Amino acid sequence: MSYYVTTPIYYVNGEAHIGHAYTTFIADTMARYQRLKGEDVFFLTGTDEHGQKIEESAKACSKPTKEFADEISASFRSLWDDFGISYDKFIRTTDDEHIRGVQHAFVKMRDRGDIYKGNYEGHYCVSCETFFPQTQLVDGEFCPDCGRSTSVVKEESYFFKLSAYQQKLLDYYEANPDFILPRSRRNEVINFVKSGLFDLSITRTSFSWGVSTPDESRHVMYVWLDALLNYITALGYGGDEKEMRYWRADTHLVGKDILRFHAIYWPAFLMSLDLPLPRHIAAHGWWTRDGEKMSKSKGNVVLPREVADAYGLENLRYFMMREVPFGQDGDFSQRALIDRINGDLSNDLGNLLNRIIGMSAKYSDSLIDSRAVSQFHSSELEQMGQITQHIEKFLDEIQTHRYLEELWKLFAIGNRAIEVHAPWVKMKEGRDEEALATVALVANILARASILLHPFMPDITTTIADALGFKINTASYNAYLKDEKLLDTFTIKRVPPLFPRIDEPLLEQAPKISHPPVKEEISVEEEPDNLIGIDQFLTVALKIGTIIEAEEVAKSKKLLKLQVDLGESKPRQIVAGIKEYYSPSSLIDTQVCVVANLKPAKLMGMISEGMLLAAKDQNGLSLMRPEQQREAGSSVG
Ligand code: MSP
Repeated sequence: MSYYVTTPIYYVNGEAHIGHAYTTFIADTMARYQRLKGEDVFFLTGTDEHGQKIEESAKACSKPTKEFADEISASFRSLWDDFGISYDKFIRTTDDEHIRGVQHAFVKMRDRGDIYKGNYEGHYCVSCETFFPQTQLVDGEFCPDCGRSTSVVKEESYFFKLSAYQQKLLDYYEANPDFILPRSRRNEVINFVKSGLFDLSITRTSFSWGVSTPDESRHVMYVWLDALLNYITALGYGGDEKEMRYWRADTHLVGKDILRFHAIYWPAFLMSLDLPLPRHIAAHGWWTRDGEKMSKSKGNVVLPREVADAYGLENLRYFMMREVPFGQDGDFSQRALIDRINGDLSNDLGNLLNRIIGMSAKYSDSLIDSRAVSQFHSSELEQMGQITQHIEKFLDEIQTHRYLEELWKLFAIGNRAIEVHAPWVKMKEGRDEEALATVALVANILARASILLHPFMPDITTTIADALGFKINTASYNAYLKDEKLLDTFTIKRVPPLFPRIDEPLLEQAPKISHPPVKEEISVEEEPDNLIGIDQFLTVALKIGTIIEAEEVAKSKKLLKLQVDLGESKPRQIVAGIKEYYSPSSLIDTQVCVVANLKPAKLMGMISEGMLLAAKDQNGLSLMRPEQQREAGSSVG
């Protein structure tokens, strides 16, 4: 049988962070798991390179858009290569075959009567690349998804008749209860569709970085139509169709923020193209840092390469897929990672292997024979069987944390057997056969567990298998997992400790400088991490201000509205994201450091004429203030 798994294609407007690595790790694990079972797997990843967001990001870096996209796409690819991600194809939406496939699909949908020309008038969030009707905006202006300011779009556009697919989509969800995983997310999609689908604007004329429509080049395709089609153009759709036998996709892995595009638009496009729909759309949660969504502008991004270099790539993979229930948000913390390494990996798994290596060397010349296992350990074998028979259903539903939790029960059986049966006592009492049966039981547990763990930790489990003297492959999977056979014999080899304990965090705890959280709500383009000269620094006017009024912003969890005296003719209004850390009354008459020459920005409909400096770490946020009272308006520098 074949198995087709995909990651989302990543926008090329910044480097990969651990959120991206998480999706890719899960997809890689699923691909490896299916290959281990002997399936014919196609694993697709790649980069999403068109659209207004990328065009603007390239401009901000003063680079030609294609050159900019080439660089970032290559950085994703080399990260996945260095991480040993076993993708079969890395697609770029700037590939010629993809472009041809998208145009082919457009014509097919149009010929079927699903595309018509009209005029679009509404709001657009460039960051989310999403259209919103006025009624969905926060305070009539801000994106309901990311909070950034939206822009008004008024242009001629082609529309896709999404509304025509409303009932067909609802019928499909009804008939396929596992289409959306985890199932807890299903209702959210169903309710959205039930609330009514509008036809979708699928072309833009106000910028050009995209796939042009076949007959009218001034219309470029909406980036989500272009992007979603990658899942079939990668297989040759609209071209040689070489790999189309893999369609339909078994699992599209996505983050919860892009579930709507995959669970509503994508199936509707596929219905229009008369193609079968994917089996599962599996949506995971967000990785946050110290409770906040990661973003470069907040300076709280965790880079996967740094963590992998410090803690080990496969330890990171294990941690991410074990720590957080699939579908829920998870907070990245080095403490939690260290606890998993020291606890699950070093204590439970590493020690068990070391004990087997040690005991087998001492008692039986590193040779282990399984003959007497069933005689002395039938109950442990039965417990093992129960676990291995049902464990796979967790992975089939992408419940990686539950799968690993079950898997660890095998190590618990092994560790308990050693404690209870104390082979060293039995050896002393001359009950060698019994003692060696316990050692053999545990060697078999380690063998089965390392096969089951292989998709998650391919290199480490290969080393474990090497230490035990067998190979992990489809044949051993079938023999020891499916048929529940024991290995007849083991020739044990010593290996260096696989999971050295870690006592202290290995990476700097928190970013050195953290911008006040208000930045999160302003539409700021991210700057490259360049050093600046003093001239550039001096262009920033930093001033001491005295807060004379402070009040909460209704309906905002984060914002306070302040009036700050900067020694000017009238106080400045500054809207700051510090509500979680300061009460309004505690701020009155205190001094702060203000970026005084920032362009005014609108936050939740209120003008903000400056920004406060603050430092933030895992313990909270602290405003930057002069050590002693200074005159309002004094400059800082
Ligand atoms: N280009 C679109 C996807 C098109 S797929 C046809 C896109 N790109 S993205 O780069 O912004 O995001 C890619 C994936 O990364 C999404 O699934 C998104 O949910 C995920 N993540 C981005 N930040 C994340 C976290 N902080 N945590 C977990 N996943 C996150 O959307």
